[in-house]
Amino acid sequence: MSSVGATPVAAGAAAARDSWEAHDGKDVATVVAAGPLRGTVRVPGDKSISHRALLFGALASGDSEISGLSAGDDVRRTAAALEALGAPVRDASTGERSTAVWPPGRILVSGRGGHLAEPERPIDVGNSGTAIRLLTGVVASQPFLTVIVGDASVHRRPMDRVATPLRAMGARIDGRDGGRFAPLAIRGGELAGIDYSPPVPSAQVKAAVLLAGLGASGETVVRERVATRRHTEEMLALAGRAPVIGDEGGEYVVRLRPGPLAPFALDVPGDPSQAAFLVVAALLVPGSDVVVENVYVGPGRAGFVDVLRRMGADITLVTRGATTADIIARHSALGATDVRGAEIPDCIDEIPVLAVAAAFAEGTTVFADASELRVKESDRIATMTTELVRMGVAVEATADGMVVHGGRASPAGAASSHGDHRVAMALAVATLAAGRGATVEIDGFGAVATSWPGFLETLDELR
Ligand code: S3P
Repeated sequence: MSSVGATPVAAGAAAARDSWEAHDGKDVATVVAAGPLRGTVRVPGDKSISHRALLFGALASGDSEISGLSAGDDVRRTAAALEALGAPVRDASTGERSTAVWPPGRILVSGRGGHLAEPERPIDVGNSGTAIRLLTGVVASQPFLTVIVGDASVHRRPMDRVATPLRAMGARIDGRDGGRFAPLAIRGGELAGIDYSPPVPSAQVKAAVLLAGLGASGETVVRERVATRRHTEEMLALAGRAPVIGDEGGEYVVRLRPGPLAPFALDVPGDPSQAAFLVVAALLVPGSDVVVENVYVGPGRAGFVDVLRRMGADITLVTRGATTADIIARHSALGATDVRGAEIPDCIDEIPVLAVAAAFAEGTTVFADASELRVKESDRIATMTTELVRMGVAVEATADGMVVHGGRASPAGAASSHGDHRVAMALAVATLAAGRGATVEIDGFGAVATSWPGFLETLDELR
C-alpha cells in the first residue's frame, strides 16, 4: 500500500487533520474521537451495482451510459479489465479513458454485443473478489484464453465456487491447486445452460453463473436456499432480459434464457455497506444526527438496518425510489441481539461494523452461521476479534461467528486493518465511539482505497 506522506487526511469528527503518516513504508491513519457527527452526506456508488453495470454494459449491443460509479479501486479494476477485453470505458464528455481518472463522472461503456476480445496480458483485479468471480463468468463463454490474477488476499480466496459450475457448463478453468485459487486461466467456449444450487449462499456465484448463462445454449437456472442480493437480476431486467424469478419449494429460483442485452442508462445509487459505517458511528457517538442520501436499500442489502433497529437504533428511511432511500440515524442506546441464519447474507459485509455496534451495546450479541466471513478480504472473524480485543472489548471468535460482550471499549492506541478496507473503517468507527479524546493509529488504513478512498474526509464533513 503506498503511503501518502504528509497529505492531511481526516481523522474523524472534529479531530486534528494531521493523520496520515508513513511508518516503515506502511500507511497509518490516526483517528481521534471528538464531538458529535451531524449533517447530510453521500456515500460512493454501490460497489456491487457498479461492477455489474460495467460488465453488463460491455456485453450489451451499443453504448451504455453510467454515472455515480463506486470511487474505489475495485471497480476501477473491472473497468480496466473490460478495456483489456475490447470494451472501452470512456468519459462521456471528453472521450478520455475513464480508468485514468477515478472516480469517473458520467461514462460510456462501448458494448460488444456479447463478443469480447482476447486480452493480451493477465487481467489484474487487485483486491476485488467480486471482479475476479464475475469476470470469470463473463469470459467463460468467450472463445479465447483469459488469465486473471489479483493481490495476495484474492489469491487466498476460494475460486472453486465459480470454477465448479462454470466447468459443468463447458468452460475449461485451471488455477492453483486444481483451480481452487487464483491465478485463474479460463479457456472459454461453447457453454450449455445449467440447473445449479450453489452450496454456499453467494451473490457472486449467482452472478457468475447467470453471466455465463447469457452466452450458453438453453436455460440457466440458479436455486438459492437462502436468497442473496438481487443486483444481477435487476441489471438483467434493465438490459431488457428480465429473468423469471419464483419461489419453488421454498427456494428462490432464477431462470434465464440466453440472448442479447440492450444498452441502458443507470445512475448508481449510494452503497449501503458504506452508509453502514456512518450510521453506526452516528448511533454510537452522543449527540449525533446524520443523513445519508440516496442509498440502495433493495433486497438483500438493508439487513443491517433491521439488525440495528432490533438493537434499539433510531433509524428512519425516507423513500426516494423503488429501491433507494435517505437513511437518517440518531444517537441511540443499543442493546444486544442475535444475528444468524437467513439474515446473514443480507448483512454479511456489515458484520465488522455491526460487531462494533455490539461492542458498545448493553449485553451479549451473537453472530452465527457466518463462516463466509473467514474467506472475505481478510478472515473477518479472526481480524475483528483480534482488533476488538486489542481495543479492550470482550469478544470470542467461534467457528462461524463471534460472541461480543458489550460495554465500553478502551482503545489502546494501535490497531491494524489487516489489509481489509471494512476492518479499517470499522476500527475508525470504534475509535470515534470510544469517546472524546480516544486516539488510535490504524495501520494499513490505505486499504480503504479499494472501496472508499474519501471515507475520512466524509467523516470530517460531519463534524
Ligand atoms: C457481492 C457479494 C457478497 C459480498 C461482496 C459483494 C456481490 O459476496 O460479500 O462484497 O457483489 O455479489 P458473496 O457472494 O461471496 O457472498
